[in-house]
Amino acid sequence: MHASDTLTGGKPEQYAQLAAQARALVAGERDRTANAANLSALVYHALPALNWVGFYFFDGTELVVGPFQGRPACVRIGLGKGVCGTAASTGQTQRVADVHAFAGHIACDAASNSEVVVPLVAGDGSLIGVFDIDSPELGRFDADDQAGLEAIAGVFVASLVEASLVGASSA
Ligand code: SME
Repeated sequence: MHASDTLTGGKPEQYAQLAAQARALVAGERDRTANAANLSALVYHALPALNWVGFYFFDGTELVVGPFQGRPACVRIGLGKGVCGTAASTGQTQRVADVHAFAGHIACDAASNSEVVVPLVAGDGSLIGVFDIDSPELGRFDADDQAGLEAIAGVFVASLVEASLVGASSA
């Protein structure tokens, strides 16, 4: 059901392949905008039934939209607001089967019916932002999707750290 042109096997295997592609895409690069842009494009085109994939970054006060694929989105989201703001304020992934049943959901794209939002937290515990994946299908995301998308988010967070650079010195 979730097979694409480039991914094979069951869903966990497909996500393992996608995570490997993600790591290859950001290898040796720490730029936040570059890596967020490429990871958004990778996920948007690799997985079926998505209408928005992208990043919001915490500016110290609220979430501000970053690189994404899909229709133009809300620019700023307060902590605790909507699915994104809830993921950011709780530090917990939000997997929402029907966004219209989520109190405070922010309808940026009317096509969105379900979504997963993964909080992005640095090693020191500080909030970087969120990774938001939306689908026009109700109940598009199961626990395997959540785990797979959390792994992609982990690749992004790791890419921002100097030690993750290929060939980086430990000195
Ligand atoms: N639906 C999100 C807003 C962001 S967009 O879907 C791109 C929310 O409720 O946080």
